[in-house]
Amino acid sequence: MACVLQLFGILLIVSIGFTISVTFIDDDPIVDLSLGKIQGSTMQSFQGKTIYAFRGIRYAQAPVGQLRFSNPIPESSWGDEVFKATSDSLVCPQPGISLLMSEDCLKLNVFTKNFENKKPVIVYIHGGANVLGSGHSIYEAGPQYLLDHDVVFVAFNYRLGALGFLNTNSSETKGNFGYLDQVMALQWIRDHISHFGGDPELVTIMGMSAGSMAVSLHLASPLSAGLFHRAILMSGSATNHFDIDNLFWSRKLARELGCPMFDPTDLVECLRNENWTRIVEICKAWESYQFVNMKWNYEIDGYFLPKHPTKLIEEGKFNKVPLLISYTANELDYSAYVHLENEPLLHDLGSNFEKYAPELFLYNQNAIISQRLKDYYLGSNTTEINSDNIEQFGRIFSDGIIGHGVHRLVHLARHFSPVYYMRTDYVGERTVSAPLDEDNKPLGVAHADDLQYIMPSLWYGTMMPEGHSDIFMMERLTSWFTHFAKTGTPLNSTGDWPPCNSSDLWMLFNGVATQVGSPLDSDRYAVWDELFPTAARSGGAAWKLGVWVGVATGVASRLIGKLM
Ligand SMILES: *[C@@H]1O[C@H](CO)[C@@H](O)[C@H](O)[C@H]1NC(C)=O
Ligand SMILES: *[C@@H]1O[C@H](CO)[C@@H](O)[C@H](O)[C@H]1NC(C)=O
Ligand SMILES: *[C@@H]1O[C@H](CO)[C@@H](O)[C@H](O)[C@H]1NC(C)=O
Ligand SMILES: *[C@@H]1O[C@H](CO)[C@@H](O)[C@H](O)[C@H]1NC(C)=O
Ligand SMILES: *[C@@H]1O[C@H](CO)[C@@H](O)[C@H](O)[C@H]1NC(C)=O
Repeated sequence: MACVLQLFGILLIVSIGFTISVTFIDDDPIVDLSLGKIQGSTMQSFQGKTIYAFRGIRYAQAPVGQLRFSNPIPESSWGDEVFKATSDSLVCPQPGISLLMSEDCLKLNVFTKNFENKKPVIVYIHGGANVLGSGHSIYEAGPQYLLDHDVVFVAFNYRLGALGFLNTNSSETKGNFGYLDQVMALQWIRDHISHFGGDPELVTIMGMSAGSMAVSLHLASPLSAGLFHRAILMSGSATNHFDIDNLFWSRKLARELGCPMFDPTDLVECLRNENWTRIVEICKAWESYQFVNMKWNYEIDGYFLPKHPTKLIEEGKFNKVPLLISYTANELDYSAYVHLENEPLLHDLGSNFEKYAPELFLYNQNAIISQRLKDYYLGSNTTEINSDNIEQFGRIFSDGIIGHGVHRLVHLARHFSPVYYMRTDYVGERTVSAPLDEDNKPLGVAHADDLQYIMPSLWYGTMMPEGHSDIFMMERLTSWFTHFAKTGTPLNSTGDWPPCNSSDLWMLFNGVATQVGSPLDSDRYAVWDELFPTAARSGGAAWKLGVWVGVATGVASRLIGKLM
């Protein structure tokens, strides 16, 4: 009996290896998964090649009812019916900019050009400060550029905001749901991507901003081990100093909904009975200023994360894969420009810098740190923020929120894995948030400005028309990224772009031309290394301050809607 079963097992494996389980109805492909049959549709790549698109595939059960604030549960078989994966999922609840949302959002998209040979898989983890964004193929993650190369592309949604990260300091509700969703999407890819011509042994995870911070957490998480083989991090890493108190925000949310605040069971039961639209609206109302600061972040829960990610990476206890790590020349330098006309606010920020700084830059109240930051970036005698120094003020966000965490990741990981380090200096025609000069040309390269060259989208930049002057940058970056996904190096020769390793540090400056040299901006990051020599621990800032009012940030605003 055992023999027969074993034989059967071998036969089964062989048949999976050699049978292409796809049929076509007209032009539409139908793929036969272990979960059931799934029908896709066709679209065109930038160069007009046919793409087979499967959109809105559920990878986890709907996180509703008792499953809200619970770890995700994998999707089970849907029987004989052919599932029509022909339109994008609704996006996860978020401060809506008139997007169609649903709590039933744990779905993914797969794009492939054929179903045969095993191709590298690139998986996009979206950003949005853990409160915004999606894997939607029109809003954020179009496959048209990447699919001109020989890869399979996957993008997905994960739970956001309180629904993704609520923490009650109990063993039942420890947060990290959004990250566990991501792990489950990666498991789905491991189990099913071969049916779409993807190689489950050659998966690259790619994230931007909070999505890049998530990628760094997958480097650190034992749950993500073996689920990916290379990683691309664009403008974000959880090896930063952030001290974000999920428990504080969870209790604040409960209080504002009239729910019990302290007993975990009472709190969660009450919040499970709330309409998610109210949960989103209440959190949105905390964002009174238009700055970027995260309210929801990972927990060191002993499951997804055994220790602080910085510690794990420093000790070499992480998933050691080749890394391509980038940031942009100006990141959040312009984040305060929206307030240029708001003189009273700028005045208050200047004269009370030390009071605002901990919440703006996500550290625990500390007068010495605030003073040092002010001295370094603004000058010790400065009491005004105005058009003369607003960019220096913005640079504190660039360095503290984005650059320093990235810099620290490069410096820690290079001892264990090759790290291709890049700064994008190329100023294109379009920008997410940089101010424009009189010819409408952006004045720099803002946060997320590089994403438009990887995936066309309504958010970050629509598909470029023929002849557009930035097409060369799209071709360059998609070529590097897909080559990296395939081989672990962005170029054919590492001589042209050597990786950082334990003895060498290199940076590729990605302008109109490219140039390799020593990393820049190190003096600025040295200040943050000095102020935050070790990883911040969870649990703190606002709670200890005793303030119930969330100062800072503008996640709700249109502009910030595009940040992180
Ligand atoms: C969280 O729970 C632990 C263990 O029950 C307790 O020691 C700790 O004080 C709690 N933290 C907060 C902020 O309530
Ligand atoms: C949730 O609230 C929205 C509007 O705020 C409403 O349209 C919807 O019907 C409510 N859903 C439930 C289940 O009460
Ligand atoms: C700051 O002000 C103090 C006292 O007015 C003065 O002594 C010092 O030189 C000033 N520093 C700078 C950098 O201007
Ligand atoms: C690598 O070399 C091949 C063959 O010469 C070329 O077609 C390809 O564009 C190169 N790729 C990169 C990323 O340099
Ligand atoms: C680091 O890389 C350089 C080439 O860029 C190489 O010459 C050197 O031997 C490497 N060092 C280590 C310790 O691997």
